Amino acid sequence: MSYSEDVLHGGDAMRFHRVRTLRRALIALIASILLYILFAYEPVNIPVLAFSPSTPDAPVYQSRPVYEYTSLYRLRANISFEERLEEQLVSLEREVRSKLLKEEKDLVAKKRIWQITTPDLAEAWKSWISQWRDNNAGWEYKLYTSPPTDLMPLFDSIPQIAEANQKFPSIREDLVRYLILWYHGGFYTAIDTWDRVAMRDCQPIVKVVEGKRDVSLVIGVDDDEPYLSSQTLKQWGWMRGFGFGQAVMWAPRRFDPILRRAIVRTISHVLVQESLPKGSWSQRQLSRIGSHIDTSGEVSGAGMFTDIVLEVLSESLADGHEIRDRDAGLERRVSWKKFRHMKEVMWLERNQLKDKSDEDMRGLAVLPINVWGSGQTHSKSGPSESDDACVNHVHGWRPKRHKIFG
Ligand SMILES: *[C@@H]1O[C@H](CO)[C@@H](O)[C@H](O)[C@H]1NC(C)=O
Repeated sequence: MSYSEDVLHGGDAMRFHRVRTLRRALIALIASILLYILFAYEPVNIPVLAFSPSTPDAPVYQSRPVYEYTSLYRLRANISFEERLEEQLVSLEREVRSKLLKEEKDLVAKKRIWQITTPDLAEAWKSWISQWRDNNAGWEYKLYTSPPTDLMPLFDSIPQIAEANQKFPSIREDLVRYLILWYHGGFYTAIDTWDRVAMRDCQPIVKVVEGKRDVSLVIGVDDDEPYLSSQTLKQWGWMRGFGFGQAVMWAPRRFDPILRRAIVRTISHVLVQESLPKGSWSQRQLSRIGSHIDTSGEVSGAGMFTDIVLEVLSESLADGHEIRDRDAGLERRVSWKKFRHMKEVMWLERNQLKDKSDEDMRGLAVLPINVWGSGQTHSKSGPSESDDACVNHVHGWRPKRHKIFG
C-alpha cells in the first residue's frame, strides 16, 4: 500500500480498527479475570502447581563449602538406649564367632550378591536382575521378593530389632539391608542398578575381590556438591550437599562395626521420629520439608550412613591422619573435605587406626563417585559409560527420592 492510498482511506479504516481493538482488549480482560479467579481462588492446593517439574533454575553456589552437617536426629537421640543396643549386638557377635569353624574365623563373607524388592518390581527389572546373576560366575545370587523370614530369628536375643521392624515399615528396607550385611556379609545392590562390569573385572575393587585388602566394608561417594547454596539444596530436595551412597554397599567380611552402628542408629532415629510431639517445631519442620524431600535418608538411609562413617573415622583414625580436617575443631574431625573430588580409591585399613582395637572399625574402602555413582547430573559423577563405572544406578526413578537431580 502506498502512502497516498493510506491517507485516502485513513478515516474509515481507523474507526473500524479502533472498534476491533476495543473488542479484543475486552475479551483479553475477561479472559485474564477468569484465569485469575481460576488460579488465585483455587480452594484446594494443587501440588502440581506448587512443585511442577518445570525446568529448574540453574544451581546457585556459595563461596564457602559446607563439609559437616548436624542431624536433628542426633540432637534428640537417646544415647543410653543406643549404647545398650550396641552392647547387645556386640555380645551376639561374640557368641556367633565363638562357634565358628577354624576356617571361618577370619570372618571372610561368602561371595554373595543380595537384592531385596517386591514381586512387582522383580518382574519389572527382570533383565537387570539376570545381568547381576549371569555376569558374576562364582558368586551366589540371592533375591528376596518379600522380607526374608530366616533373618529375624537370628536376632531373637535382641527383641528391639524385630519390634522396630514390625512397627515401622518406613525403615524396613534399610534395616533389613544392614542386618543382612552385618550378619552374613556380602554385596547388596538396589533393584534399579545395572551390573555394567563383573565384580572380578571392576578395577577399583578387584583387590578386595581377590582378598588382598584388609577391609570389611566398601562404600562409594554418591553426592559431592558441598558448595551448593541452601536455596538450591531445597529446590533439589536435598538435606545436604554431600554423602556416600547406600544403594550399593559391600561387606567383604562379616560383622563390620560400621554396619552395626547403622543398625543401632536406624532403630534409634525412628524412635526419635515417633517421639517428636505432634505440632512441635521440629515436627512442623519435618512435615513442611517432607512433602518434597525424602527425610528417610536422614533417619535410616544415606544421610544417616554418611554421618556414622565420618564419626567412626573421626574416632578411630590416628591423630595426625591426612584425611583429618585441620579446620574441624581441636580434635580435627574427619569432615567431607578430603572426600571432595576424590579420584582414587581411599583405603582406610587397620594399620591407620589410633589404637590396635578393632571394636569400631575394621577397614573401610571408599570409592570415587564414578565407580558406583556415575551418570548423575551433578557432582562431576562422569558418564554412565566411563571406564571405571562398574555399576549404573537409575537415579531418581523412585518419585520420592532425589526428584529431578539423581
Ligand atoms: C532412653 O532409653 C533408656 C533405655 O532403653 C530408657 O530406659 C529411657 O527411658 C529412655 N529415655 C528417654 C528419655 O526416652
